[in-house]
Formats: sequence, structure tokens, C-alpha cells
Amino acid sequence: MKKKIIKIIRKKNRNKIVCLTAYSKNIASILDKHCDIILVGDSLGSVLYNYKSTRQVTINTMIEHSKSVRLGIKKSLMVVDMPYNTYKNKNEALSNAKKIIKKTRCDAVKLEGGKNISNIIKHLIKNKIAVMGHIGLLPQYETGKFRFKGTSKNIKERNKILNDAVALDNAGVFSIVLECIETSLSKKITKKIKIPTIGIGASAYCDGQILVTDDLIGLNLINARFVKKYAKIDKVIDNAVLRFKKDVKKNIFPSKNQSY
Ligand code: KIV
Repeated sequence: MKKKIIKIIRKKNRNKIVCLTAYSKNIASILDKHCDIILVGDSLGSVLYNYKSTRQVTINTMIEHSKSVRLGIKKSLMVVDMPYNTYKNKNEALSNAKKIIKKTRCDAVKLEGGKNISNIIKHLIKNKIAVMGHIGLLPQYETGKFRFKGTSKNIKERNKILNDAVALDNAGVFSIVLECIETSLSKKITKKIKIPTIGIGASAYCDGQILVTDDLIGLNLINARFVKKYAKIDKVIDNAVLRFKKDVKKNIFPSKNQSY
């Protein structure tokens, strides 16, 4: 197992794990100073391409964005989402994971699913591929409106999510993203498994937290309860572009300083 991955696992119960998404070099290089893990998430499908679902994201799109992100990362662990339909069986999963790793030099891949894909995950790990799990709300398999998972009204769902977490832990993943999971359940999962849980809409009991960077900086205008907006970067860009426009109209830009 890579040292970087062991370092992440050792943070459990000691040090909160900081994770964010990046889709390009310039953002990745800013995040790299502060994050333990940078994920090239297939959320880029909705955030950048306005796709209705992440199912439309292709492996080549993931690879091209990941190549850019790689250029911005010096120290963080880089994880790339395997898109929908690229891990239907052991052999396909292995050849696609190898392709992603070879072309992007990422440290690990992330797959959505629990017990149902634990054999596929075991096969990847047997072949020395580091895997991050993802349970709870699974955007690749969600149809209709997204909803929170594992509420006390749905005991069957709670048990399934808990069993999925245990199955992934036993399969050998180095951490699991818990997406939109009710607080007491994510607390229970985090206590029960050996590896770190990384929450998104899954409470402060998780070992770490992840958000989509574009949501956190206010570039992607989404209104989800679990997103805290730390900046209004859209306003900053708007203001810069407006000033540029005014300067161009008044012939103030370029001045002598910007001319040769
Ligand atoms: O695709 C993504 O960005 C993700 C995170 C939200 C966890 O899977």
C-alpha cells in the first residue's frame, strides 16, 4: 500500500481529513495546499456540462480533466471517479482502472456501490489498485429527486447501508464517502469500520469531509442544505470582467504598461 494511503488511514480518530473536488489544474494547485485528498469527481458532468445525470460522463472526459488536475497536485492524494458503466464486471473494471491510472497518474479510483460491487473492488485491490468506496446517495444510480438515506423511518435502508460499509471495509477500500446519510447512521458506520469515512451531507461524525469546490466557492449555484458557501467567487469574477469591459470601452486598457 502506498505511504500516502497509509497516512490517510492513520488519520482515523486522530485528525479530520480534508477533501475537495477539482476538475482542472489551476483550482487543484490552490486546493493542494490545504487538502489531504483531491477528487476528480464525475459531478463535473452536472457542474460543468449541465448533464442531467453523471451517467453521461465518459471515461475520456474523466481522463482529460484528471490530466489537468494532476498538473496542479504536488502533495495531496489524487482520486479519480470511475464513471458509470466502466466497472460492470471484474475484467472491465480492472482494464478501465488501469487505463485511468496510467493516463492520469492518480493514486486511487472511486467506485459507487456497496456489497453488490465488493467482488469487483476486491479484484482491483488484488491487482494493487487503491480504491475509495462511495455509499448512501449514489448519483450514478439515482433517478428522480435526490433524497437523504437511512432515516429512522427506513430501517431496511439503514441496515443495507451499514452492511454495505462493512462489506467495503472487508473488501479492502482505504476510505468510504458517505453521501447524504442520516446523522446517527453515519456515526454508527464511522464507529464500526476500521477505515476513515468521508462525509458529504453525512454529519460531523465522519472522519473527514468533502464538498464540490464549485459549490463551496459559489461558482456553481446550487442550494443544497449540506453545502456551506465560503465565498461568492461569481461576484469576484463578475466585478473583474465588468472593470475590464469598462477599461476597454474607455480605451484605458491596454495602457503603455501592457503594451510593447
Ligand atoms: O462526483 C463527486 O464530486 C463526488 C463527491 C461529491 C463525493 O462523488
